Amino acid sequence: SKGGYQHFMIKEIYEQPNAIRETFEGNIEDPALIKAAEMISSSNRIFLTAAGTSYHASLVFSKILARRARLFSYPIISSEMSYVSSSLQSDDLVIAVSQSGETYDTLQAIREAKKMGAKIIAVTNVLGSAIVRESDFSLYTRAGPEIGVAATKTFLSQIMLLEMLSSFISYEIKTIDKDEKNNILNYLKYAPNLLQSSLEASDTLIPFLINFHKKNSSYILGRGLGSAIAMEGALKIKEITYLHAESYPAGESKHGPIALIEKDFPVYIVSTSDAYEIAGNAIEMAARNAKVIVVKPADLRLELKEDKRNIYFAEMPPSNNILELEPFILTPLFQILAYRLAVERGYNPDKPRNLAKTVTVE
Ligand code: M6R
Repeated sequence: SKGGYQHFMIKEIYEQPNAIRETFEGNIEDPALIKAAEMISSSNRIFLTAAGTSYHASLVFSKILARRARLFSYPIISSEMSYVSSSLQSDDLVIAVSQSGETYDTLQAIREAKKMGAKIIAVTNVLGSAIVRESDFSLYTRAGPEIGVAATKTFLSQIMLLEMLSSFISYEIKTIDKDEKNNILNYLKYAPNLLQSSLEASDTLIPFLINFHKKNSSYILGRGLGSAIAMEGALKIKEITYLHAESYPAGESKHGPIALIEKDFPVYIVSTSDAYEIAGNAIEMAARNAKVIVVKPADLRLELKEDKRNIYFAEMPPSNNILELEPFILTPLFQILAYRLAVERGYNPDKPRNLAKTVTVE
């Protein structure tokens, strides 16, 4: 049931602090994380394969893993796997991330990887799903069932689980010591509270943002970790409001997309602690009369030396420069914005046109 909420989507958005708490508590003592970390650290190359929102969670994982474990992983959109799978080898490992565990493209991707002899680890929310059955090993997000077509709580639960995994891998390969690992895990334990504050901060900003978002198109930009959060934000807006939202790494602006900027074009800048240079992108957009909103943890300092006209700030809870916490702090604003915009425009966010919750066809 919708438990008093108008739609499943908003219910699931508000359920997120609980969902990620369940993910944390359900996995922290489970030897599966240690086993997965061992499998990963003894493999040659790590590939990540997923679609849609799960792909964005994989991108977050890839950035965190590079930072903490100094390990490069290859994120591949599931439906693109067949174009590279011939390069896979038997000492490679593929992590398939899928909320439902039933997505056709992801299932095909792991079948192709298996043919090449690679090992597969599934990260899903559904016990006994097809992807689980066809994988060598599985981890579970334990976010509870998600009914809304737009993935919300499962996204942050995937991130929680993958960040836990990243700290186990980093410890396994000794790029962090026991204290650092425990530190990260302690921060993650605290993430549900931060997420709760972030939901509240986002709610407060919605009237302003609805007014801000007056064009049929928008950019959502970020660097580093922020680019993955931006991609998820743009997908949420497209999927349920039917407004165009485009996301790309902010540094690419001057290589083409900035040509589209005109007066009052909405540009969101997702600012994370791995990407200080982003202030320049905000300024270059504002100088062309875009309306810029910088979404950032309150304690992250951005040097905006020049004219700050047209630059607004969405201050979210502080992250203390802990990269792992920033997806929980910066994602909710876009989820709630997409939801409110959809409702405002008269659409049912639970049942977006042309979409199914689980895409089991080619
Ligand atoms: O069940 P999966 O995680 O494999 O699904 C992947 C995508 O189809 C899914 O994330 C889709 O993009 C959602 N509608 C996003 O909100």
